[in-house]
Order: sequence, then C-alpha cells, then structure tokens
Amino acid sequence: MALRVAEFYSGIGGMHFALQTAGVACQVVRAFDINTVANEVYRHNFGGVAVMQRSIESMPMSMYEALRADLWTMSPPCQPYTRQGLQRGSEDERAKSFLFLVDLLQRLQSKPTYLLVENVAGFERSDTRTVLLRQLVRSGYRFEEFLLNPLQLCIPNSRTRYYLLAKRDAAPQECPDDRQFPADFRHTVPGAGMIEPPADDAGRVDFERGIWHHDEVRQVKHYLEEQPPAPAGWPRLPQKILDRHSYVHDVVTPEDRRTCCFTKSYTHYAEGTGSVLQTHGTVGVDPMVRENTRYFTPREVANLMGFPAAFSFPGGTSTKQQYRLLGNSLSVSVVAVLVDYLLHRM
Ligand SMILES: C[S@@+](CC[C@H](N)C(=O)[O-])C[C@H]1O[C@@H](n2cnc3c(N)ncnc32)[C@H](O)[C@@H]1O
Repeated sequence: MALRVAEFYSGIGGMHFALQTAGVACQVVRAFDINTVANEVYRHNFGGVAVMQRSIESMPMSMYEALRADLWTMSPPCQPYTRQGLQRGSEDERAKSFLFLVDLLQRLQSKPTYLLVENVAGFERSDTRTVLLRQLVRSGYRFEEFLLNPLQLCIPNSRTRYYLLAKRDAAPQECPDDRQFPADFRHTVPGAGMIEPPADDAGRVDFERGIWHHDEVRQVKHYLEEQPPAPAGWPRLPQKILDRHSYVHDVVTPEDRRTCCFTKSYTHYAEGTGSVLQTHGTVGVDPMVRENTRYFTPREVANLMGFPAAFSFPGGTSTKQQYRLLGNSLSVSVVAVLVDYLLHRM
C-alpha cells in the first residue's frame, strides 16, 4: 500500500522529488506552504496533489487527524537558527508553526509512523531542537540526527544541513521539561557509501576542508547545461559587479570538484551566496576573466541540488524567483538517501 505523506513547508517540492528519487511508493496527501510562487511551481510539477495555501498553525486539529499520514516531511523556515539571523530560536515568530506541529504530535490520535526534518546547521544548538526531542520521547519515537553535506555523495556542491529521522516504534516515556540531549550527530548514513568527513581532535568535522578536493567528487562540468540559454535569458554577471566584487566571488571552473552553497540571495549579493563559473582559462591567472565568467543558471543549480530532469519552473517564473526558490529548497540527493534509510533500514 502506498505510504501517505504530508509534506509540510513544501516549497517547490524538494521532499517530494526526494521520495521519487528514492523510489518510494507514496501518495502526498497534502502539501502545505504559504508562498504563492512556490505553490505555483509545486502544482506545475505535481498537478495531482492538493496544496494548502494557509499557515500551518491556523488549521484545526481535525484536518490533520483526517490526513492519516504515515510520514511527515518538514523543512521549516531556517531564519530563527541561521548565523546571519538573530538566533532567537523558538522565540522567533517564524518558529511558531513548527512548534505547533511538534505539539500536535502529542495530541493526535493518528500519529505519523515516520518523521523527516531538515534545517540549517545551527538548528542542532537551538532550543527548538530540545523541544522537538522531548516531544519525540514522550510520543514513542526513536530518532537519529545527522549533519550531512552533498559533497559526501560525490556531488560538487556544499550544503551542510541538519536532518532528523524518527520512527514511532518505541514505548512513550516520561520526559521532564528540563531534560537536555547530548550532541550525538551522525556524519554519514549507514550503508549509503558516503565519504566520511575527517574530524579534528575535538571531534568536529569540517566538510569543506575535508572533502573540497576529494578525487572522487565529480567535476562541475557534469552538471552544466549543454545548450547555454539564449542571451535574453542568460543570468549575466555584469562587468561592474565583477570589478567591484571580484575578490569575494567564489570562482570555479568546469574541471573543479566543488561549488559553494547556493542561497536564496544568489546573484543578489556577491559574498557567500554561491559560486560563479569561469567557463575556460585558469582562475586567478586568465586576463579574460571578465569575458568568461558567469552565474550558474537556475537549471544548473537544480542539477547540483539533485532535482531530476523532469523538474521545471512554469513559464513566467522570473530568474530571480527561480534562484530564491532553489536557494530555499534542499538537496534532493541527500534527502533521498535519508528517506531510503528511514523507511527500510533504521
Ligand atoms: C526552507 S523553505 C522549505 C522549502 C522546501 N522544502 C522546498 O523544497 O522548496 C520553508 C518554506 O516554509 C514556508 N512557510 C513558512 N512559514 C509557514 C507557515 N506558517 N505555514 C506554511 N508554510 C510556511 C515558506 O513559504 C517556505 O517555502
């Protein structure tokens, strides 16, 4: 029987694509997101799925009860936990809907058997994580937490993220409100053949330093579009931007085995929002750098994030919107590995 899935914070459907990539027989019974542009993209790719365009916390419990979902996927807003933000955690308004879902778990009759949570690195230090884990213990879930990066799957893109997998096959336990949880994170998924990141003496891993130049990581050229888009649709890197910011751009070539994390501000801010591509010549040496350096196209970013060839944006989605939505989404490749582990091996 097909697994019934509730896809919370569905965005452009990264979780749904990961379920497909993992070959899971499933039915997404409802997708939830408040972003109208993201929902248009979701419907364009998954026409048959009912998308709920209302804030999650505004819906009555009866609606969630009626879903009878076996799996909840959740990639809540990351702003409460990012280094750039104020790190207000559960105090942040944007954490409210996730805390609502965590609370709902305890009260629902038809609890999901499986949970999958994705968030930025930093979430693992938040009070929201602690609230979540206490609730899982009380509601009979066994869980495992991960910090993973697509580089470990030999994909030349860095995107370190926190993931939690939970399965409801334990006895519910008392859990006092002051219980804390150790930082017990896995850095590979058992059986997935991931590259093990090296750790320092304190046990901290640095994915980028450890895997940036790993020979097994594929070259960027395998993720590039064969036919460059027509000039009108080309995400240009204007001369004045290169002149002003060339020292902060992360420039890579097709032969490289790495790109930085593409964020929702890609092309908007130069620093730390994603790599730019020097199509030929040697980085730092070639005097033609201004003529031969460009942004990665949205399709190329999607390729690096593991979106399948069938994924597309509806006509009318601006290039800027495409970058924003992709930057907010997730590594389909990493989540597919986690889904497989959660459903079949955990
Ligand atoms: C990190 S993004 C998730 C992206 C998604 N996983 C994807 O693949 O595109 C968080 C999403 O949560 C949505 N969101 C934020 N607050 C919400 C709320 N209260 N109810 C429903 N959706 C919400 C945002 O619109 C955004 O699309």
